[in-house]
Amino acid sequence: MKGTAFPWRLFKWFVGRQIFLGAIALAIFFALNWIWIQRQAEVPNEMRPALTWLAFWGLTGSLTVFAVVSVIMARHFVVPLKRLIEKTERIHASPFTEDAIEEAEDKPDEPGEWYELERALDQIGRDLQAKTIRLSREKTELRAIVSAVNEGIIAVNHLRQPLFFNSQFAIEFGLEGRTPEGLALGEILRSPDILNAFDQGLAAGESSHVQVSLETRNRGERSFQVSVTPLKKRHNQEIYGAVAVFYDVTERKRAEQMRNEFVGNVSHELRTPLTSIKGYLQTVMGDLGRGESKQALEFLGVVDRNVDRLMHLVDDLLDLSALQAGVALKRTVVDLQGVTDTVLGQIDHRDHEIVKTFAAKSLLADEHRLEQVLRNLLQNAIRYVPTRGKIEVAWSSLGKNGARLSVRDNGPGIEKSHQQRLFERFYRVDDARSRHVGGSGIGLALVKHIMQRHGGEVRVISEPGRGSEFICDFPG
Ligand SMILES: Nc1ncnc2c1ncn2[C@@H]1O[C@H](COP(=O)(O)OP(=O)(O)OP(=O)(O)O)[C@@H](O)[C@H]1O
Ligand SMILES: [Mg+2]
Repeated sequence: MKGTAFPWRLFKWFVGRQIFLGAIALAIFFALNWIWIQRQAEVPNEMRPALTWLAFWGLTGSLTVFAVVSVIMARHFVVPLKRLIEKTERIHASPFTEDAIEEAEDKPDEPGEWYELERALDQIGRDLQAKTIRLSREKTELRAIVSAVNEGIIAVNHLRQPLFFNSQFAIEFGLEGRTPEGLALGEILRSPDILNAFDQGLAAGESSHVQVSLETRNRGERSFQVSVTPLKKRHNQEIYGAVAVFYDVTERKRAEQMRNEFVGNVSHELRTPLTSIKGYLQTVMGDLGRGESKQALEFLGVVDRNVDRLMHLVDDLLDLSALQAGVALKRTVVDLQGVTDTVLGQIDHRDHEIVKTFAAKSLLADEHRLEQVLRNLLQNAIRYVPTRGKIEVAWSSLGKNGARLSVRDNGPGIEKSHQQRLFERFYRVDDARSRHVGGSGIGLALVKHIMQRHGGEVRVISEPGRGSEFICDFPG
């Protein structure tokens, strides 16, 4: 491991200085001693070389002892220092994973300041480790939470540079597999409204909400409600970034629009017969007031028809809402010829030729709902096919237990552009004509929902001038 070698440099510096200083001190001491001896007149001349040698060996011996003591002292200081250096480097290099939590090491054999310092360093290392592990765990949890939400989230710094975005945001705006580094917010989101909201949040520290339409990667244009909130440092409230959450409100807006359209359509459908009823009733009242009763019966007949129409509309709407709310079906084995004859018996079809075929005999279905399907399709054919037209009702087998109903006519047919919308509530090809014959555009929507509840589907095959065929598949 790097840096774990004995700290020779410090050791050499320490020992070298001590020996150097010691040598100087001893040399001065022995030099003075030698000078002093030379000055002593009573010292015989023949003893002077011996004394000089003694001084020399004394100096050398002292220096050696001094050097040994100095090395021992240096070791005593430098070895714990080496350990501290190693420890510090270990703390610095540690990845601080949970499986590497260090236990406190006890070194009672080395008391003193070095030991205290080492213990303090151990404690700092363990605290740092615990904090790092906690932080990384919290970060992982937070990322998991942020990735699990359905909303796109992006955070930017005070320069509006992206710091983080969650996976939902990456999917929506084509950033999968990319990191925020080097990306510019203006390149990801080209909406001035959002960029302004970010600027406002970063400059004024205010949260804001904007509604925008944005082009998404896989789902085309979507409506988003974007909430931008500034990020502030806790201690001084300084703004260091902002985070934006993108709520997809497309479905909500669509549902709201559909609800508004529905209320508008219903009101319109109710208003027409009600206006007519009120008009006729006022006329009848006026006539009767003047003692005239000639036309009263005729006018009341119109009122009666309009009330019927209102009741029919309200019944259909209630049925439709019950089907959408998931009302249960009462499935029984239905005799197909019987149910078809019952429905034909309830409709005036004298002006049309009806041809029936029954290749399938029975079906497991809700009889009442099946009657509604037949009644709507047959009534439409009778309504929209001119007098003496031909209507074919055919039941055939579908799979093991299923059946297919086909109601075909040789009437005016329906243009391609209308065929897709035919099954929407209140949709009529020719508004004036349908209204004239008493249609409100609910019938086929009802048929579609009944078929869906049976697990089947309805479709139309038609060409203008060549008649229409409505096909209902019951999987059985
Ligand atoms: N057999 C058909 N031939 C030609 N056009 C048809 C036929 N059946 C339906 N249509 C067209 O489809 C439209 C929608 O039919 P739908 O049954 O939903 O409503 P409606 O008949 O107008 O009213 P309702 O059935 O609620 O009384 C009709 O207004 C009509 O224009
Ligand atoms: Mg109809």
